[in-house]
Amino acid sequence: MPAVGIAVGDNKKEYPGNLTPFVTVTCIVAAMGGLIFGYDLGISGNSLYIKFNALKLDFGICGVTAMPSFLRKFFPSVYRKQQASITNQYCRYDSQTLTMFTSSLYLAALLASLVASIVTRKFGRKLSMLSGGILFCAGAVINGFAKAIWMLILGRILLGFGIGFANQSVPLYLSEMAPYKYRGALNIGFQLSITVGILIANVLNYFFAKIHGGWGWRMSLGGAMVPALIITVGSLVLPDSPNSLIERGQHDEAREKLKRVRGVDNVDEEFKDLVAASEASMKVEHPWRNLLQRKYRPHITMAVMIPFFQQLTGINVIMFYAPVLFSTIGFGNDAALMAALITGTVNVLATMVSIYGVDKWGRRFLFLEGGSQMLICQVVIAACIGAKFGIDGNPGELPKWYAIVVVLFFCIYVSGFSWSWGPLGWLVPSEIFPLEIRSAAQSVAVSVNMFFTFIIAQVFLTMLCHLKFGVFLFFAFFVVLMSFFIYYFLPETKGIPIEEMGQVWKTHWFWSRFVADEDCPKGGGGYEMTKAGQGPKNV
Ligand code: BGC
Repeated sequence: MPAVGIAVGDNKKEYPGNLTPFVTVTCIVAAMGGLIFGYDLGISGNSLYIKFNALKLDFGICGVTAMPSFLRKFFPSVYRKQQASITNQYCRYDSQTLTMFTSSLYLAALLASLVASIVTRKFGRKLSMLSGGILFCAGAVINGFAKAIWMLILGRILLGFGIGFANQSVPLYLSEMAPYKYRGALNIGFQLSITVGILIANVLNYFFAKIHGGWGWRMSLGGAMVPALIITVGSLVLPDSPNSLIERGQHDEAREKLKRVRGVDNVDEEFKDLVAASEASMKVEHPWRNLLQRKYRPHITMAVMIPFFQQLTGINVIMFYAPVLFSTIGFGNDAALMAALITGTVNVLATMVSIYGVDKWGRRFLFLEGGSQMLICQVVIAACIGAKFGIDGNPGELPKWYAIVVVLFFCIYVSGFSWSWGPLGWLVPSEIFPLEIRSAAQSVAVSVNMFFTFIIAQVFLTMLCHLKFGVFLFFAFFVVLMSFFIYYFLPETKGIPIEEMGQVWKTHWFWSRFVADEDCPKGGGGYEMTKAGQGPKNV
């Protein structure tokens, strides 16, 4: 068995710098960019809520697409069908139109992240964040005042554009600004904002749905303006990252900014390396075509596989099961609120654990621990649900204790995701790309994430109908696969300066065959191969 990962030798390169209040506040503000994505995930219910609602499981109201007044106004046929009853809980009608409506956001985000790649590279991370905020805000206004379905769709597309821009630029910005020793923690602020956004949106939605007169959905959709304004204003006051300033030729300003960000005067070493990285980057005329070069094989593999696997954990499907289970436990009409509160809080708290541990325990440990935790839970949940719902999908009476056990495993699953694939799915891609392909490669990562979020939302109901409780085993299978992938192919990136990252591939047992010495000319960094523990060696 090959030894995998990389350990850093004693003489590793270290840049002076502190976790200054300036960089901390800057990163907190930028991380708020995750709020718009989270808020939307919470409000739209990712289109799966309607499907569960369609299952007639009577678990209350979650996403805006489950509000009767919203459906009656914009999707009357869906509303009528929703009233029908059926006994098989696994297989019900499926509304492709409605799913398309909610999912159009992901396609728009996918396209926007490609455009954002150019803006981020040529005009800086700030402008992409600002564009994200403005587009999202416009979408929220149009949706809040929607009178016809075209307004809803237009609004949703604008929201998608906003998310595409923000998700492309915010993680990159955070990884560049943070001192490398705290990069993981500061970057995960982005995922923390996503989880806070989901929690707030779910809770607000629950109460807005109760507004008499049926206009609560306007509040839910229009409320997206608040997170949009936060990131819009935030991006105006944020400084540009030194990496981005150098990339755009503003060297003096970049040096001053670097001093301010790091809180020390002696930034020569880091500045020199940033300039070297930028010079290498200047030689690249076609970052997209460049991505296909052999030396970038490890990077492009990660840009595709990490977001793909993040969605194949099944997180969005599992989260949407929550209300069903909570109603079974006996929360009745409050099931949706309880589900949102409990899973939402677990999601937020577990993300904080990740912030605490990511730069101490490393990315690989969290990936592997979280994966094992999710796997166990998925198998237990599949067994429990399978035993009760059986093949025909009719549960009869579900004992309460039974549902409590399932909910417990459910929360353990969510926490496993929230300190592993959730945050790391955004952190790792943003920190491994060299400057010359960083922006383009990050767009690939965002596009893949959006594409599979979309695909899973589209095919979920059909999968549930055919695989039944086995749908959990389907995702469990992928969790096994992704854990092997991490174990063998992802080198540890904790504590390594971002512009020195090339070394981790050069010393990796597998990727070293793609990366030649001259591919990582600068710095050198002094990373050594070690034999003990995780030390890489060629096989
Ligand atoms: C994922 C989303 C998911 C969320 C849950 C994010 O990192 O990209 O698909 O809904 O985490 O917290």
